[in-house]
Order: sequence, then structure tokens, then C-alpha cells
Amino acid sequence: MRKLFVLAFAVAVVVSCNNSSNESSDSETAETENIAEENTEDLIKEYDPHRGEGKFEEVEISDELDEEKVAKGEVIFDAKCSSCHKLSDEMLVGPGFKGVTERRSPVWMMNFLTNTDEMIDLDPELQDQLEICMVRMPDQGLEDDEARAIVEFLRKNDGV
Ligand code: HEC
Repeated sequence: MRKLFVLAFAVAVVVSCNNSSNESSDSETAETENIAEENTEDLIKEYDPHRGEGKFEEVEISDELDEEKVAKGEVIFDAKCSSCHKLSDEMLVGPGFKGVTERRSPVWMMNFLTNTDEMIDLDPELQDQLEICMVRMPDQGLEDDEARAIVEFLRKNDGV
């Protein structure tokens, strides 16, 4: 009887030790998650829907179209975007491009095309589109001048 009691006691100690160590590692994980969440929350609070988030502060755009950039943008569109985006307002995998330069500023577009992942995490409208399209736009790995050429091509598509 005494042996049984000792055994029960030992089991209780082991169980309680396990519990407490689990608790501490659980709360550590929870803390790390909280910090990560707070960082994203801070970024979302600071997010500027006109500029987006990325390395571009402003983009120079002249009233006249730069036809050289337009042509380059069209080649990139055909190769990297047309499988998911139409030039009309019809949705394919992603939203149609008609009117996109009225919805989005040039600087937003530059940041989005060179910092796609982070922007999808932060931009409320992209979040809504993600829910509708059910596909997350993959980063297309564009160089800055390629992104700029796309902006020019999309301006032409919108009748600039
Ligand atoms: C695999 C499909 C896919 C490819 C390829 C793709 N996109 Fe997207 N794009 C999407 C989806 C889906 C969205 C909606 C946001 C989201 O869910 O990520 C989107 C959103 C956008 C938006 C915002 C549209 C709006 O109406 O606000 C722009 C601009 C854009 N894409 C440009 C491009 C350009 C430029 C390329 C090519 C260099 C490209 N995308 C390639 C799927 C794609």
C-alpha cells in the first residue's frame, strides 16, 4: 500500500512537471506570435493606401505617354501577366486591368509590383481581391524599369 502511494506520488510529480514545462513553452510561443502580430498590426495601422509599402516614395509621370516604355510594358504583360489579367474589366484569375490606373496611383503600382508579397499582406483592397480571386498573386520578380514600363502600358490601356 505504501509502495503504491509512493508510485502515485511520483507519477503526480512527473505529470505536474510536464504540465508546467508545457505551459511555459506554450506561453513563450504565444508571446512570439503576439510580437509578430503586433508588428504586422503596426504596419497595417501605418499603411498608406495611396503610396502602398515599398521602396518608392514618388514616381515621375509626364502627361505624354512614353511609347518606348509602353512597348516594353506590352511585351512583359504578354509574357508575365496575361495568363491572369485581361486588359478589359473582366476578371480572369485576377482583376481586369481596365481602369486600374484610376484606382491605383503610379507609386502604389511601383511598390506593389516590386514588393508584391508584403503589399498583399497590408493592403485592405488587395485582401478583398484575394478573397474574391482565391489566388494570391505571385511576385513576378520585375526589375524597377520593367515595373515602370508596365505602369506606362496600363496608362495607355486606360486611354491616356
Ligand atoms: C497567377 C496569376 C497572376 C499573375 C501571373 C499576375 N497577377 Fe496580378 N493579380 C493576381 C490576383 C489574384 C490579384 C488580386 C490580388 C491578390 O489576390 O493577390 C492581382 C492583382 C493585381 C493588381 C491590382 C489590381 C487592382 O485592380 O487593384 C495589379 C495592378 C496587378 N495584379 C498587376 C499584375 C502585373 C503587372 C502582372 C505581370 C507582371 C501580374 N499582375 C501577374 C494574379 C496574378
